[in-house]
Amino acid sequence: MKIAPSVLTADFTNLKNEIDSISDADLIHIDIMDGNFVPNISFGPAITKQISKVSNKNLDVHLMVLDPLNWIDEFSLENVEYITVHFESNNFLEALTKIRKNGKKVGLTIKPETSVSLISKYLKDVDLVLIMSVKPGFGGQKFIPESLNKVKELVDLREKNNYKYVIEIDGGINGETAPLVKKAGVDIAVVGSYLFNKKERNKEMEKLRWKSLF
Ligand code: DX5
Ligand code: ZN
Repeated sequence: MKIAPSVLTADFTNLKNEIDSISDADLIHIDIMDGNFVPNISFGPAITKQISKVSNKNLDVHLMVLDPLNWIDEFSLENVEYITVHFESNNFLEALTKIRKNGKKVGLTIKPETSVSLISKYLKDVDLVLIMSVKPGFGGQKFIPESLNKVKELVDLREKNNYKYVIEIDGGINGETAPLVKKAGVDIAVVGSYLFNKKERNKEMEKLRWKSLF
C-alpha cells in the first residue's frame, strides 16, 4: 500500500522542514478547501506551487471546492500527478474532462454519505477513486468503518469489469486502521494528523505501508 501524507496538519511556519521529513512519501496529498463545499478553508494554488518547488514528489490534489472547473488550470502544475474532484461538486463531469485534457490523471471522490453505485457509470474513465473515510473538511477525525465496504465494492467492480483505477482512502488512517484498509484492497492511503504527530515520519510511513492484521 502506498502512503500519501496530507500536509494539511503540517506546521506551515516550518513547511520546508516538514516536507523534508516525509521524503520517502509515495505522493504528497494536497487538500484544497474553499469554505463553501466544506466548512473550512485550507490554502490555494500559491502555497501548492511553493510545496511543489521544495519537493521532488508528485502531488495528489484533492479539490474540496464547489466549482472545481474554475481551478483545474491553476492546479495543473508540472509535478501534479492526480487531480481529484468530488462527485457532489458543480459540473464535476466537465471538471474530469478538463483534468484529462490538461494531461493529468483523473480522480473522482465521494463523501461518506454518497454510495458507490452513484458513480458506477464513471468508473471506466477514471484513474483514481478516492473514498472519503471522514466528512471532508478537517484533519484528525475518526475513521468511518463503513468505508471499508465501499473499498471492497470498488475492488469487485474493478475485477469484474477490468477497470484500471487505483483506490485511495482519506481520513482517520492510523496504526489501527491502516491494516484494515490495506486488507480491504486500498492502493493509496492518505495520512494526515497521525503522521505529522510523529517525529520519525519516514519510519512511520514504512510501518503503515507493510502493517498487516496478523
Ligand atoms: C479531510 C482531508 C484529509 C485529511 C486527512 O477533509 O481530505 O486529507 O487531512 O487527515 P487525517 O489523516 O488527520 O484524518
Ligand atoms: Zn484529502
